[in-house]
Amino acid sequence: METKTEDFALFESDRAINYDAFVKEWIPNYGYFMSIFPNLLANAPEKTMLTVGCGTGNEMLALKTADRAWSITGVDPSLEMIQIAQKKLASYENIRFFEGEVTQLKSRARYGAASLILVLHFIKYPYKKLSLLRAIQKRLKPGAPFIIMGIFGNKAQLRRNLNVLRAVLPHTLTASEIEERITRITNSLHRTSEEELEKLTVKAGFEKPTRFFQTTIYSAWITKKPTT
Ligand SMILES: C[S@@+](CC[C@H](N)C(=O)[O-])C[C@H]1O[C@@H](n2cnc3c(N)ncnc32)[C@H](O)[C@@H]1O
Repeated sequence: METKTEDFALFESDRAINYDAFVKEWIPNYGYFMSIFPNLLANAPEKTMLTVGCGTGNEMLALKTADRAWSITGVDPSLEMIQIAQKKLASYENIRFFEGEVTQLKSRARYGAASLILVLHFIKYPYKKLSLLRAIQKRLKPGAPFIIMGIFGNKAQLRRNLNVLRAVLPHTLTASEIEERITRITNSLHRTSEEELEKLTVKAGFEKPTRFFQTTIYSAWITKKPTT
């Protein structure tokens, strides 16, 4: 399926440069999440990782820091985000980047694990979320774990969790910055409900996902490609 540029949020210029500072301020426990997610890949059939929407490479760095044996391919449509990731990971071997989308990957490689962290809520339509999940599934080895993190919940859960987010954000943020971002999250990002995520992942050929992490509006799930 063809994807147009307007289907993914553009991470360019200031948005790319400020990304690492942004996640620290706006995503409570982001650092903790990055520190534990490599542990969940312990049973991967091979230490080869497909990092979809790798951005500035934070999950790639977390994985390499935990275990240098991993070979990682980071995929992202934003060249500017990739360039920051390249600098961050310059001292590591077996790191590759692909500027574009998973569906455009020509390689026949099948990976031992995959991640999709903070990406799914930029995709508006469920059928496009499904085609991304399918594209990832197709590129995995049987038994490969797959970690997804993003904005999840139904409308009421999102509203309540946004109140929690408001309460725990750093005091350095101004009231108008907070309201602006909360309006954007509510009106322009595309949360997935738990039921929908389960349906989409299973339809894409994964096992039923398990929620293992939540921090305000963000949740993370683990699933895997079945072994048979
Ligand atoms: C919020 S950042 C997350 C970066 C990183 N995963 C992290 O957790 O810090 C979202 C990234 O997803 C990328 N992106 C957006 N749509 C995408 C798609 N359809 N496929 C792959 N990457 C996408 C953006 O360019 C951006 O770099």
